[in-house]
Amino acid sequence: MGATPAIKIERASPRDAGEIADLYLASRAAALPFLRRVHSDDDVRGWIADVRLASGETWIAREAGRILGFLCLDGEDLDQFYLLPGEFRRGIGSLLLAKAKELSPERLHLFTFQRNTAARAFYERHGFRLVDLNDGERNEEGEPDALYEWRRSFSDEGL
Ligand SMILES: CC(C)(COP(=O)(O)OP(=O)(O)OC[C@H]1O[C@@H](n2cnc3c(N)ncnc32)[C@H](O)[C@@H]1OP(=O)(O)O)[C@@H](O)C(=O)NCCC(=O)NCCS
Repeated sequence: MGATPAIKIERASPRDAGEIADLYLASRAAALPFLRRVHSDDDVRGWIADVRLASGETWIAREAGRILGFLCLDGEDLDQFYLLPGEFRRGIGSLLLAKAKELSPERLHLFTFQRNTAARAFYERHGFRLVDLNDGERNEEGEPDALYEWRRSFSDEGL
């Protein structure tokens, strides 16, 4: 099912921090149950309010007042991309990613966990290419990850 026209992509504001933190915790629990928990929920809430929303740009998908998903963008660095459980596969992630490509039209890069096969399929569907695989020493969960890159020039090559 595609995203409905009622979904708006907009910049997050500091007052969205609590709802974004709830969404982040619920999405990770649903989609990444294998992941080692290294921070308490309270630490995550504080990090989102005081650190994550305070740097770069956080963009949200909102429908009828409710936040359904978000991503964070620091230049070409796409970081933290989560939808509410129950909202996957409606095209909302594609709407958010289109905004990131609009804001960084030449290149984007991101890390994802190797075991997150759904996210890897999503990024590859949107033209990202695998750059390298790592054994997990570069993330705090110690979980093997993958670096992906998207370049506008990839589509000039016929993708
Ligand atoms: C990954 C995520 C952001 C993708 O957003 P989404 O709105 O669910 O994805 P879309 O509906 O826009 O999917 C677009 C296309 O990507 C591919 N895709 C998306 N999810 C997929 C899945 N689970 N399996 C295979 N392909 C998938 C499909 O080609 C899909 O098109 P289709 O539904 O017409 O077949 C979202 O599912 C999510 O938040 N997942 C949980 C958290 C997470 O893993 N975040 C990524 C951290 S790096």
